[in-house]
Amino acid sequence: MVMILLSFFSSTRGRRSMLSEDDMERELKMLNKPYVISFKDNSGVVFDCVDIYKQPAFDHPLLKDHKLQVRLAVRITSQPSSSTGLASTGGSCPNGTVPIRRTLKEDLVRESARSPVYKQTKDTSTVDGLHFARVLFNSNDGTPFQGASAVVEVYQLAFPPDAASLAQIIVVDDRPTNATAVQTGWHIDTYLEGDSQTRFMVFWTVDNYQETGCANMLCPGFVLMNQGLTPGMALPTGTTVTMDIERDESGNWLVFLNTELVGYFPGPIVNGMSSGTQVQMGGSVYSPPSLNTSPPMGSGVSPLPGPYNGAAKFTQVSCHGPKGITYRTTKDVANSTIYNAMVTSTSPDGPEGVAFQYGGPGGS
Ligand SMILES: *[C@@H]1O[C@H](CO)[C@@H](O)[C@H](O)[C@H]1NC(C)=O
Ligand SMILES: *[C@@H]1O[C@H](CO)[C@@H](O)[C@H](O)[C@H]1NC(C)=O
Ligand SMILES: *[C@@H]1O[C@H](CO)[C@@H](O)[C@H](O)[C@H]1NC(C)=O
Repeated sequence: MVMILLSFFSSTRGRRSMLSEDDMERELKMLNKPYVISFKDNSGVVFDCVDIYKQPAFDHPLLKDHKLQVRLAVRITSQPSSSTGLASTGGSCPNGTVPIRRTLKEDLVRESARSPVYKQTKDTSTVDGLHFARVLFNSNDGTPFQGASAVVEVYQLAFPPDAASLAQIIVVDDRPTNATAVQTGWHIDTYLEGDSQTRFMVFWTVDNYQETGCANMLCPGFVLMNQGLTPGMALPTGTTVTMDIERDESGNWLVFLNTELVGYFPGPIVNGMSSGTQVQMGGSVYSPPSLNTSPPMGSGVSPLPGPYNGAAKFTQVSCHGPKGITYRTTKDVANSTIYNAMVTSTSPDGPEGVAFQYGGPGGS
């Protein structure tokens, strides 16, 4: 039985186009739990308030023996500040429940045309239509990473409906055969969200983005711990948010937004990932090659030497674990007026802490 379940779960990645109607119904039933109340956000996306103990993550066979980390629950009693949470865009959930974006059949169909834009990247993009401009952080003494955080600016960008643009923090355990990663950030991704709002995002994989993991709540994995903050909720654009992903002493990877716990990736889901070999931060974009042009990244302005020109920033960058950290910028488009990444402060003591700028208008 366990084998059958496992193969069902592992087949829910990357092969959704092959799912029959029956499989899809079954998956929707698994993802959309009975709810206490539900509400729509400003753009009509439905969130269901689900009993915190009955989240889809607990259906995952690897979480059979996992108990909700209630010791973290001290952090869930307060409603988040209204400026960031769902409360500012539609509603929030009653005590003891968490808001989960309802998955529609269209979402599963769309996800089968999965965009590669979530992938960790090194120096070259091997995927047509995928581009990035990032800073890569490495430990200089081999001590691995236990987490990372940054203050990230949130932008709204206009581009073709098939394109996607992300700003994210990736903690990756870059094993040769099966890179494992936990990620958080914002995305504008019409494939996944069905609209072009800037939305809060989490992502995970345990096999280098092959068959496991997913964005947000599109597969069982991420455990929600907050009544008012959830993956897929719209973020207020033109503001900054603090994004933070940390391993705790029990081996869970916790995701915070503005220092509030949103939820966590349980250790068993991420293959017991005990640390990261690298932290990556910055932007990535994807557009189908047929569009022949790349969408804007960051604020749509490319950082260039000289006076500050409005390029998007990550500030107060902090990586946790190693005593000393080396970094370098990397991007796969040589023309700096299209996309660029530029470290602007290497000192935690300055007004922006360790900081970099990234992004660009895109183009062809
Ligand atoms: C929800 O929990 C908070 C914190 O424990 C409490 O202050 C509040 O009164 C509760 N609300 C309801 C409707 O029970
Ligand atoms: C991933 O790779 C590591 C080391 O190479 C191995 O120990 C682990 O079993 C692998 N996990 C999976 C799910 O393949
Ligand atoms: C870089 O891209 C810009 C905008 O597309 C273009 O005007 C410029 O000629 C390009 N520069 C080089 C060196 O290709």
